[in-house]
Amino acid sequence: MRTSYVPLLVFLVIIRVLGLAHGAATLSMNFYQKSCPEAEAIIKKVTWAHVSSNPQLPAKFLRLQAHDCFVRGCDASVLLDSPPNAQEKDKAEKDAPPNKHLAGYDVIELAKAQLEKTCPGVVSCADIVALASRDSVSFQFHRSLWEVPTGRRDGTVSLQQEALAQLPDPSSNFTTLQKNFADKGININDLVVLSGAHTLGVGHCFLFKNRLYNFTGKGDTDPSIDPTYAELLKKKCLNQRDFKTTIDMDESPLTFDNNYYKILKQNKGMFTGDATLLTNPEASKIVDKMLDSKTFFTEFAQSMQRFGAIGVLTGDEGQIRKKCNVVNA
Ligand code: HEM
Ligand SMILES: *[C@@H]1O[C@H](CO)[C@@H](O)[C@H](O)[C@H]1NC(C)=O
Ligand SMILES: *[C@@H]1O[C@H](CO)[C@@H](O)[C@H](O)[C@H]1NC(C)=O
Repeated sequence: MRTSYVPLLVFLVIIRVLGLAHGAATLSMNFYQKSCPEAEAIIKKVTWAHVSSNPQLPAKFLRLQAHDCFVRGCDASVLLDSPPNAQEKDKAEKDAPPNKHLAGYDVIELAKAQLEKTCPGVVSCADIVALASRDSVSFQFHRSLWEVPTGRRDGTVSLQQEALAQLPDPSSNFTTLQKNFADKGININDLVVLSGAHTLGVGHCFLFKNRLYNFTGKGDTDPSIDPTYAELLKKKCLNQRDFKTTIDMDESPLTFDNNYYKILKQNKGMFTGDATLLTNPEASKIVDKMLDSKTFFTEFAQSMQRFGAIGVLTGDEGQIRKKCNVVNA
């Protein structure tokens, strides 16, 4: 019995060595178990400490991870600062308008500083983003909502133009959204399930005001919005040149649940990109499935694992940044 495993073991070792030689390792659970056993506990502790005094933070971290993974994969490129006095073409992702309201950078940096003290040069910023996102959303449940395989490495490039070109636009129709996601290897099911993240947080009036005041350029309202909801939004988003006011995504913007799908079915989705999920028969069927809370939680956990693995750098690719906002000198 015992000897029959030997060829298999030899085979596995060869595969592993070849894989590492080509930088082609994959993510794995507890990647830091030997190199930094406290890593995940430190990240969770810092995250939970900040979420407990700032209940908006889970929305910020979840969106931060989404915007990281959408551009150049989950490589923490969104955390890099633009070079000093950068020209427009050299500016970093973070300065692209769709990233203007991202937040949580300071907490990521605090976790990183603590990790650098405990085990310098070991834990990537990309893994901190993925873990902080999971831990922040999980805080209210006192247990981890999804697994986060680790071993991501940090990228060295961050370009505003790439963020502008690749981040999905909230006024997109279904075809465009589906293509945005397909470009990242993510299917319709993941698109609908991950959109459920919009159960958390807020959206700015100026990003959906055309749905209220000038949908087809004739001073009209998007007929697909529930009329009562449209009136309510108009009362809150009074001024078309208001770039400040934000509206809660749903009635419980601090609670992670499947309420997004319930309001979507009532035509109370905030952005065209939300409402449009009902326009495709396949997507609409998935929306209906997500009305079951247990199904949503199971599916969200699976989709986040696929999402968190988009375009990751592993093995000897990229680097482990010392500070998350700058590449190593
Ligand atoms: C389907 C394509 C998507 C589009 C078009 C989209 C668009 C947007 C927009 C326009 C906002 C409002 C930002 C603001 O007004 O400041 C927003 C907020 C948010 N998005 Fe998405 N998003 C998409 C997918 C996702 C995904 C995949 C996730 C995470 C898994 C996510 C998580 C969030 C969260 C948590 C917020 C609230 C942020 C806050 O409160 O600060 N979104 N999204
Ligand atoms: C969706 O939007 C894209 C880009 O704006 C456009 O080219 C396309 O015709 C639209 N598709 C549908 C079905 O409306
Ligand atoms: C409504 O949209 C049309 C076409 O895009 C534009 O010409 C017009 O100025 C807009 N009206 C307002 C009040 O913004």
